[in-house]
Amino acid sequence: MSSNFLNPVNTQTWANGRHVVRCVKVIQETWDVRTFCFMADQPVMFFFKPGQFVTLELEIDGQPVMRSYTISSSPSVPYSFSITIKRVPGGRVSNWLHETLHEGQELAVHGPVGLFNAIDYPSQKVLYLSGGVGITPVMSMARWFYDTNANVDMVFVHSARSPKDVIYQRELEQMAARIPNFALHIICEKHGLGEPWAGYRGYLNRPMLELMAPDFLDREVFCCGPTPYMTAVKRLLEQVGFDMSRYHEESFGATPADARADAVEQAEQAAEAPEVPASDLHQVEFVDTGKSIRVSPGETVHAAAAKLGLTIPKACGMGICGTCKVLKLSGEVEMDHNGGITEDDEAEGYILACCSVPRGDVRIEY
Ligand code: FES
Repeated sequence: MSSNFLNPVNTQTWANGRHVVRCVKVIQETWDVRTFCFMADQPVMFFFKPGQFVTLELEIDGQPVMRSYTISSSPSVPYSFSITIKRVPGGRVSNWLHETLHEGQELAVHGPVGLFNAIDYPSQKVLYLSGGVGITPVMSMARWFYDTNANVDMVFVHSARSPKDVIYQRELEQMAARIPNFALHIICEKHGLGEPWAGYRGYLNRPMLELMAPDFLDREVFCCGPTPYMTAVKRLLEQVGFDMSRYHEESFGATPADARADAVEQAEQAAEAPEVPASDLHQVEFVDTGKSIRVSPGETVHAAAAKLGLTIPKACGMGICGTCKVLKLSGEVEMDHNGGITEDDEAEGYILACCSVPRGDVRIEY
C-alpha cells in the first residue's frame, strides 16, 4: 500500500449504501470460525457504530443472495472492517463463504446499519453477554472502548460450547490483562476429554452472574447469541427485576436466503389476495423500468415490484439492513423501519421498499 493511500485528502468516509470491497485477509479464529477482512480499492475510512452490521451481496450457484453479518472489527481501525463467520452444518451461505471467499476477491456490501450499537446507548458501565458467534457485535464494542481509552467499565461474559470454540480468546485475555476496566469471564458448556478448562462450566445462571458482575443491575446490558440463549438471559434478568429498558439485544429475525425466491413467493401470495375496491388501490410506478401497478392497502413497495417481476435487492425484510433502499420521486409512503435508513437519506427522499406502504400514488426510481 502506498503512503498516498492513507492521505486524508484522498480518503472518503463510509456512508450507508452499496460499496464494492475486496477481501484482504482470512483469519482462522477457531476450527469452524473465520474472520474475513475487507478494504476498498480507493481509500475509505470505514466508520460505523460498533455493533452495527453489513449485508453481503453474493451470488451462489447463479442465484442472488443477501446475507447480513455484524462487523466484528472496531472503527478505531478504520481502513478496513471485518466480519466473523461460523461455518454452520448445512448452512448454504456460511459454507459457501468458508469455501469460496478468498484474498483478493471483490464483493458488494450494503450498510453499515443497525440500532444495536454502543454509541446510541451510552453508559459508563456495561455488561456484554454473548453466546457463540454472537460475540461479534459486542467484540466490536469492546475493541472500540479499549482502543479509544474510554472511561467505560466493561464486564464481558462469553458462553461457548467448549474450550476449542472460544472465539478471540487470546485477544480478550490480553485486553483483560492490560486495563483494569475490562473483566473477562468465559463459560464453557462442556469440555472434551483431555481438554483442560479451569473456568466456569455449564450455562450462565444467576449465581454466576452475581459472582462475575455483582453490580449487574447498574449496568447497560448488550446481549447477542442464539435465540434460546437470549431468551434465557432475558428471563434471568426479568426475574431479578432488571430495568429492561437498559437491555439491548441483537435480533435479526429470519433472513431470506434468496432474494429472487422471496420475490416470487411474495408475488404468489399477492396473487391470492382478495379483491379490493378500485378506489382503495394505489398506483406504484417504477420510473426507470417504465412499469407500474395498482396495489392494495397494506402492500409494500417491494411487493409491488415483485408482482411486476422486478427484484429489488432485499435481505432482512424488516427495515433493519437498508438493502432495499430506493429513491421515491413523488407521493407518500408509510415507512415502518427498524433503523435501516438514516435521517439524511430520508430527507433526500429515500425509502426502504420492504417496509414502505404507499399512502397514495407513488413514483419510484427503479
Ligand atoms: S430488506 Fe432490509 S431494510 Fe429492507
